[in-house]
Amino acid sequence: MKTIGVKAASAEYPVYVGRELFAQIPRRLGLGKTQRRVFVLTSAEIWALWGRRFLAAFPQSAQPTALFLPPGERYKRMAQVERLAGEMAASGADRSSLLIAFGGGIVGDLGGFLAAIYMRGIEYAQVPTTLLAQVDSSVGGKTGVNLAAGKNLIGSFHHPRAVFADLSVLQTLPERELRAGLYESVKAGIIRDAALFRFMERHAEAILRREPAALERVIAASIRMKAEVVGIDERESGLRMILNFGHTLGHAIEAATGYRRLLHGEAIAWGMLAALRIARERGTVSAGEAERMERTIAAYGPAPGFRASVETLMAAAGRDKKNRAGSRRFVLPRGIGDAVVVEDVTDAEMEEAARWVLREARRAR
Ligand SMILES: NC(=O)c1ccc[n+]([C@@H]2O[C@H](COP(=O)([O-])OP(=O)(O)OC[C@H]3O[C@@H](n4cnc5c(N)ncnc54)[C@H](O)[C@@H]3O)[C@@H](O)[C@H]2O)c1
Ligand SMILES: [Zn+2]
Repeated sequence: MKTIGVKAASAEYPVYVGRELFAQIPRRLGLGKTQRRVFVLTSAEIWALWGRRFLAAFPQSAQPTALFLPPGERYKRMAQVERLAGEMAASGADRSSLLIAFGGGIVGDLGGFLAAIYMRGIEYAQVPTTLLAQVDSSVGGKTGVNLAAGKNLIGSFHHPRAVFADLSVLQTLPERELRAGLYESVKAGIIRDAALFRFMERHAEAILRREPAALERVIAASIRMKAEVVGIDERESGLRMILNFGHTLGHAIEAATGYRRLLHGEAIAWGMLAALRIARERGTVSAGEAERMERTIAAYGPAPGFRASVETLMAAAGRDKKNRAGSRRFVLPRGIGDAVVVEDVTDAEMEEAARWVLREARRAR
């Protein structure tokens, strides 16, 4: 097992990465002796697969009360937060209660937000069960829910007490979800960790076969990268923006396809390819290094194709909350393991990249 420390401005906590971690959760959260109530937010799907083993790890005195969120992005909404808070209140949750978010990024984001506002904030822990949630969403303290007007428009920074990234639970993760998460790890390599990039470039097969040692290395390195960035810039006023590599057009692609056609990571794969186009055109990155990045992204695919009009895509990119008025912000790679945030990408440059990505995506299956 590896332990990675997150040291952000407002919180410090450990992220544990390894196999069979359930047994360690109660002790590491100090639940052995206390009388505090423990709640676990999960989904019926995950509970059916892992619930029995999860509960078996807890002593009789600290058996968690299970709360359920229906699967799907459309349930990452305020209405569910209110319903769940009501259920917690009815079961006697107080300010000393602990919530464990046990699921993918949706459960983690909503669970973290519920913990942030229940009685003005209670402690919570993350037990992420998708690769995406392990390498990305469970670390960094961003929590929240969607509005009809857009994704993650309501939220709060609320860090967990600890994160348990258990490789064992990934055994049941559908192949497509695994690949989608791995794109975020490729992203981590491209923007800040050349060694991780090279490892993922060389060992795609072993990683996709879920060989524990290979997977553990990728997950730990991705978390370490994110922890480091969040440690330097918790509130995304500078460095943390580089985590948005591939996300400017990626978010636009998700929106333009109604959040149905592609998984988040898949849209990011397309978004990274589009950003690489811009970087190539500008000469920010060499053709040779850009090709290696493109090949490595492709090695974890193929990402499914999609159709949208360039107008829809441009309009959707305009609505991204991360855009400052009047300019297009993009994260562009400068080389393997090195990226910059630029504020001056023109509409014409972005439109060219959008047209290119739409052509490629139409050809893909
Ligand atoms: N807070 C952040 O910093 C941050 C960062 C990135 C993404 N996100 C958010 O994360 C969410 C996406 O998360 P996700 O990709 O984990 O999707 P998800 O939570 O929808 O999970 C994907 C699917 O996999 C199933 N599943 C989860 N674990 C499983 C397992 N071990 N075995 C079998 N099936 C399993 C789930 O039930 C679900 O159907 C989005 O809402 C996104 O906004 C947040
Ligand atoms: Zn992402």
